[in-house]
Amino acid sequence: MKPDIAFVGLGYIGLPTAVVMANSGLNVVGVDVMADKVTSVNAGEVPIVEPGLETALKEALASGRFYATTEMPHASAYIIAVPTPFDEHHAVDMRYIYSAAEAIAPHLEGDELIVLESTSPPMTTEKMAQRIFELRPDLSADHENEHNETTSKVIHFAHCPERILPGHAMEELRTNDRIIGGTTIRGTERAKAIYAQFCEGELLETNARTAELAKLTENSFRDVNIAFANELSMIADDFGINVWELIELANHHPRVNILQPGPGVGGHCIAVDPWFIVASSPEQANLIRTAREVNDSKPDWVLEKVSEAIKRTNATQIAVLGLAFKPDIDDLRESPSLKLAESITTSHPDCQILAAEPNIKALPPQLAKFPNVQLAEADQAIRQAQVVVLLVNHKEFRTLSATSLRGKELVDTKGIWDS
Ligand SMILES: NC(=O)c1ccc[n+]([C@@H]2O[C@H](COP(=O)([O-])OP(=O)(O)OC[C@H]3O[C@@H](n4cnc5c(N)ncnc54)[C@H](O)[C@@H]3O)[C@@H](O)[C@H]2O)c1
Repeated sequence: MKPDIAFVGLGYIGLPTAVVMANSGLNVVGVDVMADKVTSVNAGEVPIVEPGLETALKEALASGRFYATTEMPHASAYIIAVPTPFDEHHAVDMRYIYSAAEAIAPHLEGDELIVLESTSPPMTTEKMAQRIFELRPDLSADHENEHNETTSKVIHFAHCPERILPGHAMEELRTNDRIIGGTTIRGTERAKAIYAQFCEGELLETNARTAELAKLTENSFRDVNIAFANELSMIADDFGINVWELIELANHHPRVNILQPGPGVGGHCIAVDPWFIVASSPEQANLIRTAREVNDSKPDWVLEKVSEAIKRTNATQIAVLGLAFKPDIDDLRESPSLKLAESITTSHPDCQILAAEPNIKALPPQLAKFPNVQLAEADQAIRQAQVVVLLVNHKEFRTLSATSLRGKELVDTKGIWDS
């Protein structure tokens, strides 16, 4: 099979996207550096929880339009969805993007398109292109020839950020609008032609830098607005005011829509992406930086509330309800609730911590190493505990009976009992 697309990085984003592309009629080769992942993908096994993906993967494999490999092939287009974590200065760690670029460079013949899907600060696509041209000085970008039909030895680049909700990937990959920003007009057009093949959402054309900042902007908007709610929750507490009632009242204003506070902000997007803006524009990004700091400081504030409750009641057993970074999922990445469970455990080594997380079967290593923590059912944890700390509003917790909580000291970070 001569591939139309080499999809580089078969993770939460890459595997579903590559499979959807193949099932839309494109010939796709999935490339990953992890040999065991490649083997299991080729066997039709899905290494992540994503409803509908396994059936779609089997369909793609059976059609002959998709397989996975560790060997980079030649393809007309390369799409990269490798990790973009931040380094110790909160700047993007370019390591994975550069290693993907280095693997692609030797295969380029001219006229290929390279699309970066990884969440990235402005100018990352240009830096990736620069790395390719350092390795392949015989190739060039087509700045000078934007409307010239001569395309030999020219490489096209675009950024197309991803904004699917994990757990809904198979549907949202087809239905979400996409932002497509080339480093040149032709790069945008070439990328748009690929996404038009499987995406029914609107395909919004722009340039690469705007596309990069657009993705970061979406998550920073959420972060800043959650920080506002979190700050309000701490101000309200100083006055003995119920923040949930406060927000509900304020939201009756026709042009006010305050979000809900919580124990902090987690996950691999909202808690990470704003830092890329801060690191890229440190002089200008004051509000965005402060929002990050407010949200990152909220777990310490919650810990203080828990410690006060433990002291007041001489508690020896603490129920901690929820470890995931948001309701009704098993994802513990960057979870403020998990960090809080850990800090409650280390700050109160004489207490037994009963952690209830209905979406996992074993304690994560961050907690399993402590002898005073055990995974428990929520009702058992509540029965035993003197202090009950609600960190995630999972559906199982939203239906807990008021009588089971009677006489318990409650620290409710999500307002399901307070409101
Ligand atoms: N997961 C999400 O919900 C989500 C949503 C929007 C955007 N993003 C962004 O998409 C990008 C990918 O995220 P993810 O969650 O899919 O990551 P992931 O860690 O699940 O998958 C990345 C994959 O890339 C592979 N890889 C690393 N270096 C490679 C290389 N040089 N060549 C080939 N493969 C390589 C890894 O082995 C891994 O399988 C990140 O920039 C992330 O911020 C993720």
